[in-house]
Amino acid sequence: MAQYINKGILLAGGAGTRLYPASAAVSKQLLAVYDKPLIYYSLSVLMRLGIRDILLITHVNDEDRFRALLGDGSHLGIKLNILSETRPRGIANAFLIGEDFIGRDNVTLLLGDNIYCDTGPLKSAAESYRSGAVVFGVHVTDPSEYGVADVDCYGNVTAIEEKPVQPKSDIAVTGLYFYDDTVVQIARGIQPSERGELEITTVNNVYLERKQLRMVTLDANLIWFDAGSAQSMLNAGNYISSLESTAERKIGCIEEAAYLEGFITAGQLTELAEKMPDTDYRDYLLKLVR
Ligand code: TTP
Repeated sequence: MAQYINKGILLAGGAGTRLYPASAAVSKQLLAVYDKPLIYYSLSVLMRLGIRDILLITHVNDEDRFRALLGDGSHLGIKLNILSETRPRGIANAFLIGEDFIGRDNVTLLLGDNIYCDTGPLKSAAESYRSGAVVFGVHVTDPSEYGVADVDCYGNVTAIEEKPVQPKSDIAVTGLYFYDDTVVQIARGIQPSERGELEITTVNNVYLERKQLRMVTLDANLIWFDAGSAQSMLNAGNYISSLESTAERKIGCIEEAAYLEGFITAGQLTELAEKMPDTDYRDYLLKLVR
């Protein structure tokens, strides 16, 4: 069955203030989380959603580095465009930068510092998506760091508040969103917040007012990290290292995602792996096709 959402924006700019000085000279999304760059985790999620048409947005200083790492995506069977921001203007600015890319299509937005350790429930949501906005909530212990969803007794979202001092629930809105093409118009119509950013929460609240926003609350078994601080990056790295050594499977492996989605053949995967240095990463890829 044809999926209704086939384009993805991967947002990988931002100031990275919380990671200073690690992020002083390079995008945080290029820093390593355990054995691979942070961007691999989000890119592989988009790919596991079956999305091949991808716009990556980064800071102008990092454009060449992302090109060096990912090229035009053709080796992974995807089409990767790269555009840049000159300064961080807020997450919703992605829709203004990506206006031509979105055109008349639905679009997924994924923040480049988010790590989802399982994609099954995300894929089901992508398959059932038709229109409006879909956000993904998780129960967290420190909701005031995030956009927080207030829900009624039926689990319907009644409001989303950005970084509230007194959160009304413990449900954080994570960094994956599905939208229809009206998102561009909505983003054009909103005003920057007090901190001077076009907030994604403002966009989501417009959909909410129009009764076109749905939240999928993710199960506690779906491990999610917002790897934007040194501690959360370390926590994510420790978790992934332990999972990869015990379960003998990798999280965030873009070549594996390409192979599993049928974007590349076993022969192409072997060719990719054989060009890599002799590492566990290469061995893992070769084992997939043996
Ligand atoms: P944040 O973590 O909210 O912001 P940041 O990356 O600038 O980090 P810090 O708060 O430590 O300064 O951003 C979430 C994601 O969105 C992250 O992957 C970076 C990206 N982003 C942009 O690409 N452009 C922007 O203008 C903003 C605000 C974020």
